[in-house]
Amino acid sequence: MTKIVILTGAGISAESGLGTFRDDDGLWAKYRIEDVATPEAFARNPELVQDFYNQRRANAADAKPNAAHIALARLQQNWPGEVVIVTQNVDALHEAGGAVDVLHMHGELAQALCAACGHRWPAPEVMQTNEPCPACQAPSGRPDVVWFGEIPYHMARIYEHLAEAEIFASIGTSGQVYPAAAFVSEANAAGATSIELNLEPSDISRQFAERRLGRASQIVPIWVEDLLAGV
Ligand code: APR
Repeated sequence: MTKIVILTGAGISAESGLGTFRDDDGLWAKYRIEDVATPEAFARNPELVQDFYNQRRANAADAKPNAAHIALARLQQNWPGEVVIVTQNVDALHEAGGAVDVLHMHGELAQALCAACGHRWPAPEVMQTNEPCPACQAPSGRPDVVWFGEIPYHMARIYEHLAEAEIFASIGTSGQVYPAAAFVSEANAAGATSIELNLEPSDISRQFAERRLGRASQIVPIWVEDLLAGV
C-alpha cells in the first residue's frame, strides 16, 4: 500500500497561536539563536534559556490543535497504507489532534533531559535553573529540545521512512534548516511524489512536484480529503 511520509514545521502550529521562527513576528525576530538555542547558551546563561523554554512550554500547554493537525490524524486513521508524521515542532499538537507515533526530530517541550546521565522525564511546567534529575540527582535538568549544533533525534528511522515513501508532503516549514530541508531530495530520489503545503513559497519549493499555497488549516484538510477520496 502507498506509504505517506509527512514533515511538518512551525507553520502548521501558527494558527494554534504558537509563533513560527522566521516570519516577521517570529521567535528569531525577538531572541538571538545564540542566546537561547545552543548548548553554549545554556552553559553561559542557563536561567535565560530555561525562561525561554518555560515561556514556550506555557504557550504550548494552552494551545489547541487546529484543523490541519486534526486532518493529518484523520489521514493516519483512514489511509490504507502507513502514514508517518515527522515534525520539527516541539509542541504536542499533532498528538492532541489524534496523531500517533509522531517522530519529534527536534525533541519535545513536554520532556526534560538530564545533561549528566541522559535520563528523560515529563518536564515540570516551569523548569528551574539546576533542575535536579530524578534519576541521578545531578542539578542538570534541561529542556529535551535539540539545539543548534546538536544531532536531531530519530534520524536513522526517518531516512528509512523516506526511502520507502511513495508520497512525501512538507507542511509549514521554510526549508532553511537541515537535515529536514533535505528530506524532499531523499524522498524524490526514492521515487516519491512530493508536495509542499505552505503559506508562501519556501527555500526548497522548486524541489516539489506539486505546491499548494495557503494557510495550513485551510489547505491541509482539502489535501487530506483529496487523498481519501481516491481510496
Ligand atoms: N499555514 C501554513 N504555513 C505557514 C503558516 C500557516 N498559517 N504561517 C506560517 N507558515 C509558514 C511560513 O511561510 C514559513 O515558511 O511556515 C514556515 C515557518 O518557517 P520557520 O519559521 O522557519 O519554521 P520551521 O521551518 O519549522 O523552522 C525549522 O528551525 O529554528 C529552528 O528548531 C527550529 O524547528 C525549527 C526549525
